[in-house]
Amino acid sequence: MIKLRNGETIPLEMHKVKVVQKTYLLPVRERLEAITRASNNTFLLPTREVFLDMLTDSGTNAMSDRQVAASMMADDSYAGSETFYRLKDKLKSFFGTDYFLPAHQGRACENIISETFIKEGSIVPMNYHFTTTHAHIAKRGGEIAELLIDEGFEITSDNPFKGNMCLDKLRNLIKTDGHRIPYVRMEAGTNLIGGQPFSLANLREISAICKANNIMLVLDASLLSDNLYFIKMREAEAKSMSVHQIVLEIAKQCDIIYFSARKLGSARGGGICSNNLKLIDAMKELIPLYEGFLTYGGMSTREMEALVVGLDETLELDIISQGPMMIAHMAKELIKRGIPVITPPGGLGCHLDASEFVSHIPQNEYPAGALAAALYIISGVRGMERGTMSEARQPDGTETLSSMELLRLAVPRRMMTLSQIEYAVDRIHWLYDNRHLIEGLEFFEEPKIMRFFSGRLRPLTGWQDKLVEAFERDFGENSR
Ligand code: F0G
Repeated sequence: MIKLRNGETIPLEMHKVKVVQKTYLLPVRERLEAITRASNNTFLLPTREVFLDMLTDSGTNAMSDRQVAASMMADDSYAGSETFYRLKDKLKSFFGTDYFLPAHQGRACENIISETFIKEGSIVPMNYHFTTTHAHIAKRGGEIAELLIDEGFEITSDNPFKGNMCLDKLRNLIKTDGHRIPYVRMEAGTNLIGGQPFSLANLREISAICKANNIMLVLDASLLSDNLYFIKMREAEAKSMSVHQIVLEIAKQCDIIYFSARKLGSARGGGICSNNLKLIDAMKELIPLYEGFLTYGGMSTREMEALVVGLDETLELDIISQGPMMIAHMAKELIKRGIPVITPPGGLGCHLDASEFVSHIPQNEYPAGALAAALYIISGVRGMERGTMSEARQPDGTETLSSMELLRLAVPRRMMTLSQIEYAVDRIHWLYDNRHLIEGLEFFEEPKIMRFFSGRLRPLTGWQDKLVEAFERDFGENSR
């Protein structure tokens, strides 16, 4: 953050724009038609109908000139390419791990880890699940135990490490069900609770408990860059550590580290790292089966080269601060206007609390999904529902009500400008003043697995027309 004369702070973009992509801001009536065609699911909107794409930070971070340049130096070879060895060496210096299995993205790593270690009846304790993680474990007959600290579930808090795991909950679970636990999973920058970090101290304690009980510790490092920034800024002991020292200290605690390079390293792809050859050997055969040969694992060599540079850039505070600073600014501006958001602001994106924003919509009418559709209609901003719609129904068909109803507005790293953030804030503010017009949604096509990706929904009433009419009254007929 940089301080202005008047004492206010703003995030400062520590890069200059060299290549741009045109975006489109459709008039409000066309946006209403677009969200209707997309069946009120923002995943189904084509980007030509989206103005600000705040759906996800996955594969949407801007690459640096050095990353793009490096990708042109890729060695395209099915087996044994120079590019693979460059990436393997980079991961060795980055995490301090000797072994690396490449995979095409983060969930592919989850598939391989689950197939190798999960069996019917397994329980995987975690600080909090991610959607694809849960789906892979459930598919193999395992279950998850959410052992997040209680404060992690509170929307507003001043706990700097809401992504911490509760040590007592872990100890108790090991006591009662230790024999069913193949590994404990910690997620950096815990996605579904608002991009919230764990602390180094917490990870160390979890690791010690795991070691004492002979249980593996697996780290999902997809959102590591945000977590690193928060450890550096918020944890006393890290003040004197370099970002790389923090990475190495984190990695030392874990038996297996996997990541989505669509997030970590602002590239594409993913992989699994470890210092334990036995564990690597147990997973290795699945790479050529599902991913590709062991020296590319489904990644293109160009993205592997971009990742090599992206990992280096992850060690620079001026680079990893970009996302969290923009998010902090957006959250501050929203809070000023009385709009409920997750605090402290985390990484990945700014998270609106839909359960408060549209408190009149019951959870089984998908408040966060309705808010996502409403925001798109009045602004062209595309967010992502992270609430009950993103959960799976129970085997008997009843809804699993999510512990949080969030509208996630991702801020892809280095991709957005401050004026775009301000536009989003302004429209969210307008929507907040008109929130009584928003009503619920219902599925008319509901996939069984990860229904949020492609499910189709309709508004329960004609509320969307009324919302457009109100917008036109304030901004002009069919205005943008
Ligand atoms: N783990 C975490 C913490 C993630 O955030 C993601 C993806 C994955 C694993 C899976 O990785 O997409 O490369 O297969 N999160 C994206 C998101 C999809 O929008 O939050 P992937």
